[in-house]
Amino acid sequence: MSKDYQLYINGEWTSTDDQLEVLNKYTQETYAKVAKASNKDVEAAVSAAEKAYQTNKMTPYERYEILKRVSELLIENQEDLAQNITFEAGKPLKQARTEVERAAQTFEISAEEAKRIHGEGVPVEAAPGSENRMAFTIRVPVGVVGAISPFNFPINLVAHKIGPAIAAGNSVVLKPASKTPISALKLAELFHEAGLPKGFLNVVVGSGSTVGNQMMEDSRINLYTFTGSAEVGLKLKQNTGINKLILELGNNSPVIIDKEADIEKAAQNTAAKSFAFAGQVCISVQRLYVHEEVRDSFEKEFLNAIKQLNVGDPNDPKTDVGPMIGEDEAKRAVEWIEEAKQAGATILEGGKREGALLQPTVIKDVSHDMKVVCEEVFAPVVTLIPFSDIKECIKEVNASPYGLQGGIFTKNLDTAFYAARNVEVGGFMINDASQYRVDLMPYGGVKDSGWGKEGPKYSIEEMTEERLIVMNLDQR
Ligand code: SIN
Repeated sequence: MSKDYQLYINGEWTSTDDQLEVLNKYTQETYAKVAKASNKDVEAAVSAAEKAYQTNKMTPYERYEILKRVSELLIENQEDLAQNITFEAGKPLKQARTEVERAAQTFEISAEEAKRIHGEGVPVEAAPGSENRMAFTIRVPVGVVGAISPFNFPINLVAHKIGPAIAAGNSVVLKPASKTPISALKLAELFHEAGLPKGFLNVVVGSGSTVGNQMMEDSRINLYTFTGSAEVGLKLKQNTGINKLILELGNNSPVIIDKEADIEKAAQNTAAKSFAFAGQVCISVQRLYVHEEVRDSFEKEFLNAIKQLNVGDPNDPKTDVGPMIGEDEAKRAVEWIEEAKQAGATILEGGKREGALLQPTVIKDVSHDMKVVCEEVFAPVVTLIPFSDIKECIKEVNASPYGLQGGIFTKNLDTAFYAARNVEVGGFMINDASQYRVDLMPYGGVKDSGWGKEGPKYSIEEMTEERLIVMNLDQR
């Protein structure tokens, strides 16, 4: 039997006339019904957030205690939360369990960072005519944070938005992805239990074109933090005036396999990192540039490693690759694969779809104008692209409009650092695939991949303003 969920506004659970159906992404049956926010609900959520921020200043230590407790509660509820992710997102259970552990870490790091928010002394007396003065900066919260989160990490990418926002002393209005809203509502339950004062967290569920647009137009929101497509990111940037923004957008992640790589390790690592959560991770390996001298050996090892992956029911703890978020998305990926095939590409592995389940797919003989190469495929699809000269290879890598993360496998330090200095990305991995992320690190892209950084320490920088205070000591 499906369960009903309500919105969380001003510390209370709110039902609505309209409901949204959340499907079990593997069986496609109704898993839950969730209250759908009306204009009035969004208005109430922003008002509650504004009032909380204006009237109740929590101390850094209070914020630390609440965030630390939420981190503990996540671990206490790990299995329930992981199973929920598997149902609502179709993410394989073992990856869902890891996601909950990561969310617990994100809140723990946010809690610790709440104690380290500080400014610095400014030597104003060093300027001529500015004697007898003392100056320093403090960091103050921005106010109300509007957070819009994606379906692919329904709990940890919510954690990356709420954790730093609360640590910095802000209040939050969150719109989780409408395909996977339940993780965020369960998280709100944990914040409630941890004693977060009312109004500091408000969760409103609905589509981007209704709830998202209303949030975008509300001038009481001081900063937007968004993870999703470059198209929506651009719309937010164009419509939110001079408000601050953190935008985590798409990527078609490049990984270079140099002739001096450990081929077996590189193949195993990239096979695992190409297909986790069916390739629906912004830093999934998509473009594998393989040196011609190791092309055959890499191809063989890579295909062998893929054959070891268990594909199927995400509820089975052994499964590595489960369904995509919906059949429509899987069909779209197959269209891109077929389009590449028509244009001369060879499908080395996979390409077959059953409902939302797309087999891990490897394509070679591709060209740079094929969608599977130049756009973000966001599916279990990898392309193999040969190269013979590292400089030319990096030019091709950089021809992408995206630049979130990339990587190289090589034992040659010169080649590794040449690539690290020249590939245009926010993060570059040496002897690891592009899909490397731990939650304390700075995470964010360049070019169409976004703007601003995640990672609690770095988000807190974005989510606070630096205020200068100068004291004229002559007045005493
Ligand atoms: C993302 O898809 O941008 C998040 C990746 C991660 O947190 O591992």
